[in-house]
Amino acid sequence: MTAPTANRLLEVEQVAVAVGGKPILHGVDLSVSPGQAVGLVGETGCGKSMTVRTVTGLLTRIGGRVHSGAVRLGGEDLTGANERRWRDHQGRTVALVPQASMSSLDPLQSIGRQLAETIRRADRRADVARESRRSLQAVHLDPSETLLRSYPHELSGGMRQRVMIALALAVKPRLLVADEPTTALDAAIRRSILELLTELRLDHGLGLLLVSHDIGAIAAATDALAVMYAGRTVESGPTDQVLARPAHPYTAALLSCLPERGRPGEPLPVIPGSVQDLSRLPRGCPFAPRCVLAQPDCLDDAVPSLPVGPGRLAACRHAPAQSQAEVSA
Ligand SMILES: Nc1ncnc2c1ncn2[C@@H]1O[C@H](COP(=O)(O)OP(=O)(O)O)[C@@H](O)[C@H]1O
Ligand SMILES: [Mg+2]
Repeated sequence: MTAPTANRLLEVEQVAVAVGGKPILHGVDLSVSPGQAVGLVGETGCGKSMTVRTVTGLLTRIGGRVHSGAVRLGGEDLTGANERRWRDHQGRTVALVPQASMSSLDPLQSIGRQLAETIRRADRRADVARESRRSLQAVHLDPSETLLRSYPHELSGGMRQRVMIALALAVKPRLLVADEPTTALDAAIRRSILELLTELRLDHGLGLLLVSHDIGAIAAATDALAVMYAGRTVESGPTDQVLARPAHPYTAALLSCLPERGRPGEPLPVIPGSVQDLSRLPRGCPFAPRCVLAQPDCLDDAVPSLPVGPGRLAACRHAPAQSQAEVSA
Protein backbone atom coordinates (compact mmCIF):
# COMPACT_ATOMS: atom_id res chain seq x y z
CA MET A 1 0.00 0.00 0.00
CA THR A 2 1.33 3.44 -0.87
CA ALA A 3 2.15 5.98 1.83
CA PRO A 4 0.10 9.20 1.80
CA THR A 5 1.65 11.51 -0.78
CA ALA A 6 1.36 15.24 -0.22
CA ASN A 7 1.21 16.10 -3.92
CA ARG A 8 -1.63 13.72 -4.76
CA LEU A 9 -4.99 15.39 -5.22
CA LEU A 10 -6.96 12.24 -4.68
CA GLU A 11 -6.05 9.02 -2.93
CA VAL A 12 -8.49 6.18 -2.51
CA GLU A 13 -7.12 3.14 -0.69
CA GLN A 14 -8.93 -0.18 -0.44
CA VAL A 15 -12.24 1.57 0.02
CA ALA A 16 -15.33 -0.45 0.86
CA VAL A 17 -18.75 1.20 0.76
CA ALA A 18 -22.21 0.05 1.79
CA VAL A 19 -25.51 1.73 0.98
CA GLY A 20 -28.27 1.15 3.50
CA GLY A 21 -26.15 -1.66 4.95
CA LYS A 22 -25.83 -3.35 1.54
CA PRO A 23 -22.19 -3.74 0.43
CA ILE A 24 -21.50 -2.17 -2.98
CA LEU A 25 -17.79 -1.35 -3.18
CA HIS A 26 -15.33 -3.99 -1.98
CA GLY A 27 -11.84 -2.57 -2.43
CA VAL A 28 -11.29 0.43 -4.67
CA ASP A 29 -7.81 1.91 -5.16
CA LEU A 30 -7.28 5.10 -7.09
CA SER A 31 -5.00 8.10 -7.15
CA VAL A 32 -4.90 11.31 -9.18
CA SER A 33 -2.07 13.86 -9.14
CA PRO A 34 -2.27 17.50 -10.31
CA GLY A 35 -2.23 17.63 -14.11
CA GLN A 36 -2.84 13.89 -14.39
CA ALA A 37 -5.78 12.26 -16.19
CA VAL A 38 -6.91 8.93 -14.81
CA GLY A 39 -9.57 6.81 -16.49
CA LEU A 40 -11.92 4.70 -14.37
CA VAL A 41 -13.44 2.00 -16.57
CA GLY A 42 -15.57 -1.13 -16.31
CA GLU A 43 -18.95 -2.45 -17.39
CA THR A 44 -22.17 -0.79 -16.31
CA GLY A 45 -23.06 -1.78 -12.75
CA CYS A 46 -19.48 -2.38 -11.57
CA GLY A 47 -19.55 0.58 -9.17
CA LYS A 48 -18.01 3.49 -11.08
CA SER A 49 -20.68 6.03 -10.18
CA MET A 50 -20.65 4.81 -6.57
CA THR A 51 -16.89 5.47 -6.56
CA VAL A 52 -17.61 8.94 -7.96
CA ARG A 53 -20.07 9.56 -5.10
CA THR A 54 -17.43 8.38 -2.65
CA VAL A 55 -14.80 10.84 -3.85
CA THR A 56 -17.13 13.81 -4.26
CA GLY A 57 -18.93 13.59 -0.91
CA LEU A 58 -22.29 12.46 -2.30
CA LEU A 59 -22.53 9.14 -0.46
CA THR A 60 -24.32 10.18 2.70
CA ARG A 61 -27.33 11.60 0.87
CA ILE A 62 -28.16 8.12 -0.46
CA GLY A 63 -27.48 6.46 2.89
CA GLY A 64 -24.02 5.30 1.88
CA ARG A 65 -21.00 4.95 4.15
CA VAL A 66 -17.30 4.16 3.77
CA HIS A 67 -16.77 1.29 6.20
CA SER A 68 -13.14 0.56 5.52
CA GLY A 69 -10.20 2.02 3.62
CA ALA A 70 -9.30 5.67 3.21
CA VAL A 71 -10.31 8.63 1.06
CA ARG A 72 -7.95 11.62 0.98
CA LEU A 73 -8.58 14.76 -1.02
CA GLY A 74 -5.96 17.49 -1.34
CA GLY A 75 -4.01 15.73 1.43
CA GLU A 76 -6.96 15.84 3.86
CA ASP A 77 -8.41 12.62 5.23
CA LEU A 78 -12.13 12.69 4.41
CA THR A 79 -12.92 9.05 5.18
CA GLY A 80 -16.30 9.15 6.88
CA ALA A 81 -16.49 12.97 6.71
CA ASN A 82 -19.98 14.44 7.15
CA GLU A 83 -21.76 16.60 4.55
CA ARG A 84 -20.62 19.83 6.19
CA ARG A 85 -16.94 18.91 5.94
CA TRP A 86 -17.38 17.74 2.36
CA ARG A 87 -19.06 21.05 1.45
CA ASP A 88 -15.77 22.86 2.11
CA HIS A 89 -14.26 20.79 -0.70
CA GLN A 90 -17.14 20.51 -3.16
CA GLY A 91 -16.47 22.83 -6.06
CA ARG A 92 -13.18 24.05 -4.60
CA THR A 93 -11.05 20.91 -4.32
CA VAL A 94 -13.22 18.59 -6.37
CA ALA A 95 -16.01 19.31 -8.85
CA LEU A 96 -18.28 16.86 -10.59
CA VAL A 97 -19.63 16.73 -14.11
CA PRO A 98 -22.43 14.27 -13.32
CA GLN A 99 -23.51 11.28 -15.39
CA ALA A 100 -26.42 12.14 -17.72
CA SER A 101 -25.44 15.77 -17.38
CA MET A 102 -27.94 16.65 -20.09
CA SER A 103 -30.70 16.08 -17.59
CA SER A 104 -28.70 17.63 -14.75
CA LEU A 105 -29.20 21.13 -16.16
CA ASP A 106 -32.35 22.86 -14.92
CA PRO A 107 -34.63 23.05 -17.98
CA LEU A 108 -36.51 26.04 -16.55
CA GLN A 109 -33.54 28.30 -15.89
CA SER A 110 -31.37 30.17 -18.36
CA ILE A 111 -27.70 29.22 -18.68
CA GLY A 112 -26.69 32.62 -17.25
CA ARG A 113 -28.89 32.13 -14.20
CA GLN A 114 -27.52 28.63 -13.52
CA LEU A 115 -23.94 29.88 -13.80
CA ALA A 116 -24.68 32.87 -11.55
CA GLU A 117 -26.20 30.62 -8.87
CA THR A 118 -23.23 28.26 -8.89
CA ILE A 119 -20.75 31.14 -8.68
CA ARG A 120 -22.67 32.91 -5.87
CA ARG A 121 -23.08 29.72 -3.88
CA ALA A 122 -19.30 29.43 -3.72
CA ASP A 123 -18.58 33.11 -3.13
CA ARG A 124 -21.32 35.61 -2.27
CA ARG A 125 -19.15 38.55 -3.28
CA ALA A 126 -17.92 37.16 -6.60
CA ASP A 127 -18.19 39.32 -9.72
CA VAL A 128 -20.81 37.09 -11.34
CA ALA A 129 -20.65 38.64 -14.82
CA ARG A 130 -16.88 38.35 -14.95
CA GLU A 131 -16.74 34.82 -13.53
CA SER A 132 -19.53 33.64 -15.88
CA ARG A 133 -17.58 35.02 -18.82
CA ARG A 134 -14.38 33.38 -17.61
CA SER A 135 -15.88 29.93 -17.19
CA LEU A 136 -17.69 30.02 -20.55
CA GLN A 137 -14.51 31.14 -22.30
CA ALA A 138 -12.59 28.33 -20.62
CA VAL A 139 -14.85 25.82 -22.39
CA HIS A 140 -14.70 27.76 -25.69
CA LEU A 141 -18.26 29.00 -25.60
CA ASP A 142 -18.95 32.56 -26.69
CA PRO A 143 -20.08 34.32 -23.48
CA SER A 144 -22.69 36.38 -25.36
CA GLU A 145 -25.99 37.61 -23.97
CA THR A 146 -27.66 35.23 -26.42
CA LEU A 147 -26.02 32.24 -24.76
CA LEU A 148 -26.57 33.52 -21.21
CA ARG A 149 -30.28 34.05 -21.95
CA SER A 150 -30.77 30.69 -23.62
CA TYR A 151 -32.31 27.60 -22.04
CA PRO A 152 -30.78 24.11 -22.08
CA HIS A 153 -33.20 22.77 -24.74
CA GLU A 154 -32.02 25.49 -27.14
CA LEU A 155 -28.46 24.13 -27.10
CA SER A 156 -26.92 21.15 -28.89
CA GLY A 157 -25.75 18.12 -26.88
CA GLY A 158 -22.11 19.16 -27.22
CA MET A 159 -22.86 22.71 -26.06
CA ARG A 160 -24.84 21.44 -23.07
CA GLN A 161 -21.89 19.25 -22.06
CA ARG A 162 -19.60 22.31 -22.35
CA VAL A 163 -21.99 24.27 -20.15
CA MET A 164 -21.88 21.44 -17.58
CA ILE A 165 -18.09 21.60 -17.59
CA ALA A 166 -18.25 25.41 -17.29
CA LEU A 167 -20.52 25.00 -14.24
CA ALA A 168 -18.03 22.58 -12.68
CA LEU A 169 -15.14 24.95 -13.42
CA ALA A 170 -16.96 28.02 -12.12
CA VAL A 171 -15.55 27.44 -8.64
CA LYS A 172 -11.98 26.71 -9.83
CA PRO A 173 -11.61 23.13 -8.61
CA ARG A 174 -8.26 21.31 -8.49
CA LEU A 175 -9.78 17.96 -9.45
CA LEU A 176 -12.54 17.48 -12.01
CA VAL A 177 -14.48 14.24 -11.94
CA ALA A 178 -16.47 13.56 -15.11
CA ASP A 179 -18.89 10.61 -14.99
CA GLU A 180 -19.52 9.26 -18.52
CA PRO A 181 -18.68 12.68 -20.04
CA THR A 182 -18.98 11.55 -23.65
CA THR A 183 -21.47 8.71 -23.53
CA ALA A 184 -24.40 10.49 -25.19
CA LEU A 185 -22.26 12.31 -27.77
CA ASP A 186 -21.29 11.37 -31.31
CA ALA A 187 -17.65 10.72 -32.22
CA ALA A 188 -16.65 14.21 -33.39
CA ILE A 189 -18.19 15.98 -30.40
CA ARG A 190 -16.77 13.37 -28.05
CA ARG A 191 -13.30 14.13 -29.40
CA SER A 192 -13.76 17.87 -28.95
CA ILE A 193 -14.94 17.43 -25.34
CA LEU A 194 -11.94 15.23 -24.53
CA GLU A 195 -9.62 17.77 -26.19
CA LEU A 196 -11.17 20.46 -24.06
CA LEU A 197 -10.67 18.45 -20.86
CA THR A 198 -7.06 17.72 -21.84
CA GLU A 199 -6.42 21.40 -22.50
CA LEU A 200 -7.86 22.36 -19.09
CA ARG A 201 -5.66 19.75 -17.47
CA LEU A 202 -2.47 20.91 -19.19
CA ASP A 203 -3.14 24.66 -18.93
CA HIS A 204 -4.33 24.72 -15.34
CA GLY A 205 -2.73 21.62 -13.81
CA LEU A 206 -6.24 20.29 -13.20
CA GLY A 207 -6.42 16.66 -12.09
CA LEU A 208 -8.95 14.66 -14.11
CA LEU A 209 -10.87 11.52 -13.26
CA LEU A 210 -12.63 10.37 -16.42
CA VAL A 211 -15.21 7.68 -15.84
CA SER A 212 -16.59 5.54 -18.65
CA HIS A 213 -18.03 2.11 -19.38
CA ASP A 214 -16.23 2.42 -22.73
CA ILE A 215 -12.47 2.05 -22.32
CA GLY A 216 -12.02 2.92 -26.00
CA ALA A 217 -13.84 6.25 -25.67
CA ILE A 218 -11.57 7.77 -23.03
CA ALA A 219 -8.27 5.84 -23.00
CA ALA A 220 -6.47 8.21 -25.39
CA ALA A 221 -7.21 11.16 -23.07
CA THR A 222 -5.72 9.47 -19.98
CA ASP A 223 -2.25 8.87 -18.50
CA ALA A 224 -3.35 6.00 -16.27
CA LEU A 225 -6.25 3.57 -16.06
CA ALA A 226 -8.05 1.92 -13.17
CA VAL A 227 -10.22 -0.99 -14.25
CA MET A 228 -13.15 -1.92 -12.01
CA TYR A 229 -15.01 -5.17 -11.78
CA ALA A 230 -17.82 -6.00 -9.33
CA GLY A 231 -17.07 -3.18 -6.91
CA ARG A 232 -13.27 -3.41 -6.85
CA THR A 233 -10.25 -2.23 -8.78
CA VAL A 234 -8.87 -5.27 -10.59
CA GLU A 235 -6.09 -3.56 -12.53
CA SER A 236 -4.31 -0.22 -12.63
CA GLY A 237 -1.30 1.26 -14.36
CA PRO A 238 -0.06 3.60 -17.10
CA THR A 239 -2.58 3.64 -19.97
CA ASP A 240 -0.18 2.66 -22.76
CA GLN A 241 1.04 -0.38 -20.83
CA VAL A 242 -2.40 -1.54 -19.75
CA LEU A 243 -3.62 -1.29 -23.35
CA ALA A 244 -0.57 -3.01 -24.81
CA ARG A 245 -0.32 -5.79 -22.21
CA PRO A 246 -3.42 -6.09 -20.06
CA ALA A 247 -2.55 -8.11 -16.93
CA HIS A 248 -6.04 -8.95 -15.65
CA PRO A 249 -8.18 -11.25 -17.82
CA TYR A 250 -11.09 -8.86 -17.30
CA THR A 251 -9.10 -5.98 -18.83
CA ALA A 252 -8.08 -8.25 -21.70
CA ALA A 253 -11.73 -9.20 -22.24
CA LEU A 254 -12.84 -5.54 -22.21
CA LEU A 255 -10.18 -4.68 -24.78
CA SER A 256 -11.07 -7.59 -27.06
CA CYS A 257 -14.61 -6.19 -27.28
CA LEU A 258 -13.44 -2.85 -28.71
CA PRO A 259 -14.51 -2.27 -32.34
CA GLU A 260 -11.00 -1.12 -33.35
CA ARG A 261 -9.54 -4.42 -32.12
CA GLY A 262 -12.09 -6.59 -33.89
CA ARG A 263 -11.53 -8.31 -37.24
CA PRO A 264 -13.30 -6.72 -40.19
CA GLY A 265 -16.46 -8.60 -41.11
CA GLU A 266 -16.54 -10.65 -37.91
CA PRO A 267 -18.98 -9.96 -35.11
CA LEU A 268 -17.44 -8.30 -32.05
CA PRO A 269 -16.88 -10.63 -29.12
CA VAL A 270 -18.81 -9.94 -25.92
CA ILE A 271 -17.82 -11.10 -22.44
CA PRO A 272 -20.22 -13.95 -21.63
CA GLY A 273 -22.26 -13.52 -18.46
CA SER A 274 -22.83 -10.28 -16.57
CA VAL A 275 -21.70 -8.43 -13.43
CA GLN A 276 -23.20 -10.12 -10.38
CA ASP A 277 -25.23 -8.53 -7.59
CA LEU A 278 -22.48 -6.61 -5.78
CA SER A 279 -23.94 -7.35 -2.36
CA ARG A 280 -23.73 -11.15 -2.82
CA LEU A 281 -20.35 -11.89 -4.32
CA PRO A 282 -18.59 -15.26 -4.18
CA ARG A 283 -15.61 -15.68 -1.82
CA GLY A 284 -12.87 -15.78 -4.42
CA CYS A 285 -12.19 -13.68 -7.50
CA PRO A 286 -15.51 -12.11 -8.60
CA PHE A 287 -14.56 -12.48 -12.27
CA ALA A 288 -13.73 -16.20 -11.98
CA PRO A 289 -17.20 -17.40 -13.14
CA ARG A 290 -16.70 -15.51 -16.45
CA CYS A 291 -12.94 -15.92 -16.80
CA VAL A 292 -11.32 -18.06 -19.51
CA LEU A 293 -8.15 -18.48 -17.40
CA ALA A 294 -9.93 -19.45 -14.15
CA GLN A 295 -8.30 -22.21 -12.06
CA PRO A 296 -9.84 -23.97 -9.06
CA ASP A 297 -7.85 -21.75 -6.63
CA CYS A 298 -9.52 -18.62 -8.06
CA LEU A 299 -12.69 -19.53 -6.20
CA ASP A 300 -10.98 -20.05 -2.82
CA ASP A 301 -9.92 -16.70 -1.39
CA ALA A 302 -10.08 -13.06 -2.31
CA VAL A 303 -7.14 -12.15 -4.56
CA PRO A 304 -5.07 -9.17 -3.43
CA SER A 305 -3.76 -6.63 -5.92
CA LEU A 306 -0.27 -7.79 -6.89
CA PRO A 307 2.50 -5.81 -8.66
CA VAL A 308 2.75 -6.78 -12.34
CA GLY A 309 5.17 -4.10 -13.52
CA PRO A 310 6.40 -0.61 -12.61
CA GLY A 311 3.37 1.32 -11.36
CA ARG A 312 1.12 -1.58 -12.27
CA LEU A 313 -1.17 -3.71 -10.13
CA ALA A 314 -3.53 -6.55 -10.97
CA ALA A 315 -5.77 -8.67 -8.76
CA CYS A 316 -5.10 -11.97 -10.51
CA ARG A 317 -2.90 -14.90 -9.52
CA HIS A 318 -2.77 -16.08 -13.12
CA ALA A 319 -1.91 -12.80 -14.82
CA PRO A 320 -0.18 -13.39 -18.17
CA ALA A 321 3.48 -14.40 -17.96
CA GLN A 322 4.73 -11.38 -19.96
CA SER A 323 3.46 -9.03 -17.28
CA GLN A 324 5.01 -11.13 -14.50
CA ALA A 325 8.29 -11.07 -16.43
CA GLU A 326 8.25 -7.26 -16.36
CA VAL A 327 8.28 -7.35 -12.57
CA SER A 328 11.46 -9.38 -12.33
CA ALA A 329 13.06 -7.48 -15.23
N1 LIG B 1 -28.61 5.07 -4.94
C1 LIG B 1 -28.29 3.77 -4.82
N2 LIG B 1 -28.67 3.05 -3.75
C2 LIG B 1 -28.35 1.75 -3.64
N3 LIG B 1 -27.64 1.06 -4.54
C3 LIG B 1 -27.24 1.71 -5.63
C4 LIG B 1 -27.53 3.10 -5.84
N4 LIG B 1 -26.98 3.47 -7.02
C5 LIG B 1 -26.38 2.38 -7.53
N5 LIG B 1 -26.53 1.32 -6.70
C6 LIG B 1 -26.01 -0.04 -6.92
O1 LIG B 1 -24.58 0.05 -6.92
C7 LIG B 1 -24.05 -0.83 -7.91
C8 LIG B 1 -23.08 -0.06 -8.76
O2 LIG B 1 -23.78 0.93 -9.48
P1 LIG B 1 -23.04 2.15 -10.19
O3 LIG B 1 -22.00 2.70 -9.29
O4 LIG B 1 -24.10 3.09 -10.66
O5 LIG B 1 -22.34 1.41 -11.42
P2 LIG B 1 -21.71 2.02 -12.76
O6 LIG B 1 -21.62 3.51 -12.61
O7 LIG B 1 -20.38 1.35 -12.89
O8 LIG B 1 -22.62 1.62 -13.88
C9 LIG B 1 -25.22 -1.42 -8.66
O9 LIG B 1 -25.41 -2.73 -8.20
C10 LIG B 1 -26.39 -0.54 -8.29
O10 LIG B 1 -27.58 -1.30 -8.23
MG1 LIG C 1 -22.35 5.08 -13.78
